[in-house]
Amino acid sequence: ARTIVLDVDTGTDDALALLYAVAHPDLTIRAVSCVAGNASLERVVANTQQVLDAAGAPDIPVGAGARKALVERVQQESAFHGEDGLAGIVLPATARTVSPLNAVELLRQQVVEADSPVTLVALAPQTNIALLLTLHPEVTDHLERIVFMGGSASVGNVTAVAEFNVWLDPEAATCVLESGVPTAMYGLDVFNRLTVEEEHARRYAASDHPAQQLVGELLLRRGARADGLSSQAYVGGIGDAGALVYLTRPELFTVGRHPVRVDLAGLGRGQTVVDRRPVAQELQARSDDPWPTVEVVLDLDVQQAARAFTE
Ligand code: BDR
Ligand code: CA
Repeated sequence: ARTIVLDVDTGTDDALALLYAVAHPDLTIRAVSCVAGNASLERVVANTQQVLDAAGAPDIPVGAGARKALVERVQQESAFHGEDGLAGIVLPATARTVSPLNAVELLRQQVVEADSPVTLVALAPQTNIALLLTLHPEVTDHLERIVFMGGSASVGNVTAVAEFNVWLDPEAATCVLESGVPTAMYGLDVFNRLTVEEEHARRYAASDHPAQQLVGELLLRRGARADGLSSQAYVGGIGDAGALVYLTRPELFTVGRHPVRVDLAGLGRGQTVVDRRPVAQELQARSDDPWPTVEVVLDLDVQQAARAFTE
C-alpha cells in the first residue's frame, strides 16, 4: 500500500481522481488539501467533500488552502468545468466538516506523522505545496515523491505553451521543481490522450452505484465547455485521474528524465520548458545554474491505462 496526500481544485477531473484514489486498494489517503483553481476555494472544498461522500470514503481530513497565487493575481475561473466546478452535477449536501487546520498545516501534520514516506499528488495550481515546502522544509525528509499534474513538453491549454495549473501559479511550480524532492510531471502530453470510451461512460452513468454513476456523469460532461468555444461532442478524458493511474500502474507509461524549468516572464509565462536534447544532462552537469531533473511522463498505452482506470 502507498500512503498519499492529494492537493486538488475539484474540478470534474479532480473528482475522477478522488473516486479512483478512494476505490484503489493499494492507496491510503491521509489528507486532501484544497486550493482555488477550477472554482472558488469554497466551491472546491464543498465539491471535494461531496465527491468523497459519493466515493464512500472514510473520514479523511479535508483542509482549505490558498485562494490566490503567490505573486500574480490572475483570473482564476476555468470555463472548462462550469461555474460550480462540477459541470452542473448536483450532489447531496455533505455532513463532513472542514479541518480546523489550514491546508498547509494539515499537509505538514499528515506528512510528518505518517509511518512511512508519503507521496504527494498535486492536481491543481501548486500554491499550497509551495507554501508547505517553504514554511516547513522538514517535510522533504518525509516525502517519497511529488507527482503533479501540470505543464507540458509540447502544447499548452491556457496559452499556446502554458498549462492551466502551472500557468495559474508559475512561481509555486518553480518552488516545487527546485525543492529537491524527486518529482514526476504528468503533463498535457499524456493528460490529453487518456480517454474512456463513450459506451463505457454511459454504462457507468446508468449504474445504481453512486460512485460508478458519478464517474459516468463526470466522463460524459468532460469537455462540455461553458465559454462557447468549440469542443467535441464526447471527450471522456479522465484528466487528473491519469496522474494516479500513472502512480499505480507506471509500467503503462513512458517516462523520460529531463531538465525542466518554468518560464516566468513574457509570452511564455507558465510554460514548462523541457530540455529533451540528447546532450541536455551533460550541459546541466557543466552549468553553474543547473535545472532540476524531472521524470516527465511522455507517452502511454491508452487502452490499458483507460482499463486500469475503469477497473
Ligand atoms: C488541469 O487544469 C484543470 O482544469 C484540471 O483539473 C487539471 O488539473 C489541466 O490543465
Ligand atoms: Ca485539477
